[in-house]
Order: sequence, then C-alpha cells, then structure tokens
Amino acid sequence: MKPVRVLFVCLGNICRSPLAEGVLRALAEQKGLAFALEVDSAGTGAWHIGDPPDRRSIQAARRHGIDISTLRGRQVAAADFDDFDIILGMDENNVRTLRRLASEGTAQKVHLFLDYASGESRDVPDPYYDGPEAFEALYQMLEAGCSSLLERFGERTS
Ligand code: 4NP
Repeated sequence: MKPVRVLFVCLGNICRSPLAEGVLRALAEQKGLAFALEVDSAGTGAWHIGDPPDRRSIQAARRHGIDISTLRGRQVAAADFDDFDIILGMDENNVRTLRRLASEGTAQKVHLFLDYASGESRDVPDPYYDGPEAFEALYQMLEAGCSSLLERFGERTS
C-alpha cells in the first residue's frame, strides 16, 4: 500500500508546522506506522525559507525526545497540491490561503488540522509572540491532534 502523504502548513513554517511534522513522525514510529506515512511541512509566508525551526519549538520537541533541529523552512509550492494527499492548515487563515492557492480539483485536500484529526473545529493558535510556556501548550495540542490523526489512519491500514 502506498504511504499517505501529509503536509502540515502554518504561516512561517518555524513554530507550529515543523513541530507537528516532528511529532507525527515520532508517534508514527512509536506505533509501527512509519511505513504508512510521509510527512512534511511548509509555510504560506516566505520570511523563513531556509531557516531552522524557532528555538522554542526545537526545545519543546527536545523535552519530549524529538529532534526537529535539522528541518528547514520552505514556502508552500504549487506542486504540493499534487504531491500530497492531505494538506492540513494549523488555523483558518492558513486554510483560506491554501484553498486560494490550490489548483483545480485539489482544494478538497485542504483541511483545518484539528477538525480533520479529531472533529474539533478550532485553530492551533500562532505562538510566535507568546512566551516559552505557550510552546509546551502547543506541543500538547499537537501531540493530541497527531494521536487522533494516527488513529484515523490506523483504521485505514488495519
Ligand atoms: P508559525 O509562527 O506560523 O507557527 O511558524 C510564525 C512564525 C513567524 C512569523 C509568523 C508566525 N512571522 O511573521 O515571521
């Protein structure tokens, strides 16, 4: 069976989406589902192309045994709408931008992350201007969401 290709998207691709990428990959490995998934992340903005994740996201991941320090920022590209099966925006703003960028017939790949993962229709808020404690809360939110996402995928692969 072909792996499901998942793209996480936020604004800068340095705080939320690279952390989501690292968390989903780690959880998939723990659950023996790594073969079933390909994970990447991107930003709708261009400010952080080539940058490592924000150090607060790197530290939050590290506290939980996950290394995201080698990831590098990139901007969403037209090819992503063909290359990925599911494109998950962290907030409604990201989702709106993605739907605008989507090529014909690909907008249905775009979803709000928590809505798709667990049916909770809410944003993962942008933590960029918040203090370090916001990044632990971000981690917890992403871990819960990625866990639900894997359960959804697990139902497909079992
Ligand atoms: P992210 O957070 O979208 O979770 O990566 C942000 C990072 C940088 C900026 C905005 C949001 N920025 O404006 O540079």
